[in-house]
Amino acid sequence: MNMEPLDIGGLNIEMPVALAPMAGYTNAAFRTICHQFGCGFFFTEVINAAGITHGSKRTLFMLETLAGETPLAGHMYGSDPAVMADAARTIEDTGRFQLIDINCGCPVRKIVAKHCGVALMADPARLGRIVASVKKAVSLPVTVKTRLGLSEDRHNVLEVAKAVEESGGDAIHIHSRYASKQHSGPADWDALAEVKTACSIPVVGNGGIDGAEDAPRMLKHTGVDGVMIGRASIGNPWVFKDVAALLGGGEPEGRHSVQEHRKTIQAHVEAVVKLKEREQPFRKRGRMNSDEAAAVLFRPVLLKYMAGFRGSSSIRRGLNSMLSTAEVMAAVDRVLSAHESDWVNHA
Ligand SMILES: Cc1cc2nc3c(=O)[nH]c(=O)nc-3n(C[C@H](O)[C@H](O)[C@H](O)COP(=O)(O)O)c2cc1C
Repeated sequence: MNMEPLDIGGLNIEMPVALAPMAGYTNAAFRTICHQFGCGFFFTEVINAAGITHGSKRTLFMLETLAGETPLAGHMYGSDPAVMADAARTIEDTGRFQLIDINCGCPVRKIVAKHCGVALMADPARLGRIVASVKKAVSLPVTVKTRLGLSEDRHNVLEVAKAVEESGGDAIHIHSRYASKQHSGPADWDALAEVKTACSIPVVGNGGIDGAEDAPRMLKHTGVDGVMIGRASIGNPWVFKDVAALLGGGEPEGRHSVQEHRKTIQAHVEAVVKLKEREQPFRKRGRMNSDEAAAVLFRPVLLKYMAGFRGSSSIRRGLNSMLSTAEVMAAVDRVLSAHESDWVNHA
């Protein structure tokens, strides 16, 4: 299967395969790792637009980037068109972003309670006003990430997509599940196909890509213009390499060496340290040093990298006392040195 590049509002994306925004995971460190493995475009973790406009240091830190993670979307939530426009302007002014993305899919209660995230699906007119207002404020392409609806009996993704398109939105990314299902249950790719047929702006499909082979399957089944991969990439950036091989008409490697596994974990954890060092001026004094903070942030990611290895349960047991990146790597070495093959098969 040969894949066309993606054009989002004049932005050319060679490899139409995105790393999905995932709060707690898709920080600059992970994004740079995925870039090295061929991922085509990126999103920040979800950022509070009001936090940006208030100049909250913690929020502004989320706009920090590391080298080699473009094209990158500043992915934000909010419900006030003027605030969203202001925040988008700040994002554009950093000079680090190539896209602005509006969250219309997050089901977290405290976000929905503020009429943000997936709550905007219940008010497509407001979503349209947000898109129009952001479009007017910036010169970057503007996209929206949404779902199929709030629940099966409130399936209105077509209405939402129409509001985005008519307000000047440049693309729509669709997680093919309902908000009521959070991130679980089967994804509905027939519904994705229906949106693709109805839309004239690019549609990026998400949900249910559990391994590299699912990406060309989604493209074929739905006709979407690009795909977005979330959980299958955590601890497995190799998925992007395999998807790139499949979309280029080749065969995926399906495995990598144990040395490469170690090298990748080390590069990832070192990038997290770099990020935490960058965070120092944004953090309160007296907290953990950068290495310690990196080790703590990396814990859930480490579990994913080591899932399936014999002895990984020892990592899980020792996780809460892992307070330095040296300890992280020592735990990795203990498990990898007992691995009976020179190869690691991709999930
Ligand atoms: C831990 C976690 C955090 C997430 N955070 C966000 C977020 O900040 N913004 C967003 O639009 N979606 C978020 N999502 C949803 C993902 O972007 C994606 O739509 C979802 O995981 C389905 O894709 P997948 O099946 O490939 O994982 C999150 C998902 C997970 C598992």
